[in-house]
Amino acid sequence: MTDIFPLNPPPRLLMGPGPINADPRVLRAMSAQLIGQYDPAMTGFMNETMARYRKVFKTENQWTLLIDGTSRAGIEAVLISAIRPGDKVLVPVFGRFGHLLTEIAQRAGADVHTIEVPWGEVFTPEQIEEAIKKVQPKLLAIVQGDTSTTMCQPLEELGVICRKYDVLFYSDATASIVGNEFKTDEWQLDAVSVGLQKCLGGPSGSAPITLSDRFVEGIRKRKKVEAGIRTQSHQDGIEPFIRSNYFDLVMILDYWGDERLNHHTEATTMLYGASECARLVIEESVDDCIARHKLHGTAMLKGLQALGLKTFGDLSHKMNNVVAVYIPDEVNGDAVRGQMLEDFGIEIGTSFGPLHGKVWRIGTMGYNARKSAVLQTLSCLDACLSAHGYRGPRGESATAALEFYQYA
Ligand SMILES: Cc1ncc(COP(=O)(O)O)c(C=O)c1O
Repeated sequence: MTDIFPLNPPPRLLMGPGPINADPRVLRAMSAQLIGQYDPAMTGFMNETMARYRKVFKTENQWTLLIDGTSRAGIEAVLISAIRPGDKVLVPVFGRFGHLLTEIAQRAGADVHTIEVPWGEVFTPEQIEEAIKKVQPKLLAIVQGDTSTTMCQPLEELGVICRKYDVLFYSDATASIVGNEFKTDEWQLDAVSVGLQKCLGGPSGSAPITLSDRFVEGIRKRKKVEAGIRTQSHQDGIEPFIRSNYFDLVMILDYWGDERLNHHTEATTMLYGASECARLVIEESVDDCIARHKLHGTAMLKGLQALGLKTFGDLSHKMNNVVAVYIPDEVNGDAVRGQMLEDFGIEIGTSFGPLHGKVWRIGTMGYNARKSAVLQTLSCLDACLSAHGYRGPRGESATAALEFYQYA
């Protein structure tokens, strides 16, 4: 026999910063049979998915839909559709994913201006207002929860500031949505993009987005309909067309809207999965889902503190669903992570850039934001630390988490 063997992934408990184990109900939904692109059942599912994500995003925005691709496909679709070459964009950077927004905006031809705070901190609204006054950008692009640092940037005051200076307000809430408060309409966001593989409890590969009417009005000025499907009734917009075909949001809206103008072939299986992710959150209620992430995230934090591990960053701005702890000096961080994976089948994360090799990041999100996953992870980490010469407290972490659960 050569190397023709069935795919058989090892059993793992994914307790890093994402991806996490998909909810079995999402995987079941994804095993459903395909149907045609314009089958009324399919277009019905598309409409239903839009309605479900309006609830997830807490918005009335008509244009709430899926971009096929991982979270950065959603980011790219928003940025390349909004930014004309030379447009000014302001990106406050407080971790790796702020750099990603910068990178994508630059590739879209923007004149990007950044402000930075040290990793482990977030911005005050005053710092952002100051930068907006100075730069006068067309668009503010900011991450809500940056998993590289575990910080959650407060967004609630930024919408008012953006309206005051007539700036479009976009946030990447990939890692934070439904694990932390997020209110698209109340906070006056113009565009939001997310992914499934964190608190939404699905696999990566679909990027839900929502767009305000004023955002859509702006991008429609860049409309360009492909030859081959173009009819005499189609008129191009008055502004330079969007420099990507796949991520041309105007064409994508025409595909998701009443016209159903052909663009890509919707990734049906991903749509089933994304739709089921939203259904599960709505069934639980968005607010209860956030509260669950807070509960289990705090239990994890208490357990890690009982192990004597020092937490990274400003805890008052920590995301509910992930925590970073310094790797104790006396242990080899990669060896501990390796043993967690090999002996216990549990994955925890390290970090990027200045934090690489310095901290572990441990997530409690989506399907894994549950008591048994927290207790298993803490007990196994306790055992692995012991095996690697750790000199701090031992045997207390699961007990501390259990005590927290008892009184929470
Ligand atoms: C905040 C944030 N933005 C973007 C991404 C990129 O997502 P993807 O790998 O799905 O493209 C991630 C992934 O971890 C993320 O945490």
